[in-house]
Amino acid sequence: MVGLTNRQEADIKRLFLASAILVAASAGLAAEQPGTGDPQAGFAYAKEVCANCHAISDYASPVPAATPFDKIAISKSAEALFAWMHSTHPTMPNIALTQQDLNDVIAYILSLKADGQSGDR
Ligand code: HEC
Repeated sequence: MVGLTNRQEADIKRLFLASAILVAASAGLAAEQPGTGDPQAGFAYAKEVCANCHAISDYASPVPAATPFDKIAISKSAEALFAWMHSTHPTMPNIALTQQDLNDVIAYILSLKADGQSGDR
């Protein structure tokens, strides 16, 4: 950098790094916040992917061991759902969801609890 002392240059780099970390941290926070997902998009996604095993509406789960989503809605918090989807399980495959898909699917599952219906959507 022209016209700056080494010290000034180091200060600028530190400042830049600090703000980059801040931006990354707040982006991470926004992405992991329950309630930022779109339940409609989550339903569409769940129908594509999760419904191969889980009941997402009124019928029984195609894979009996896979808990129907309306039961999951009652038993799990948003935090527990994030934790489940971020860990590995012997019986459920690891599904690579984007952060947005994950937010949407969790918003959808939790919406099954919110409106108290077992889902005929
Ligand atoms: C290939 C079949 C399969 C697919 C696809 C699948 N799951 Fe599962 N899932 C299972 C099985 C089997 C279990 C029960 C595992 C256990 O209890 O150890 C389970 C359990 C769960 C649980 C915990 C339920 C509980 O009662 O604790 C959650 C949450 C979950 N799945 C979410 C999802 C979501 C969201 C998707 C779609 C993105 C999905 N699953 C796709 C088979 C599947």
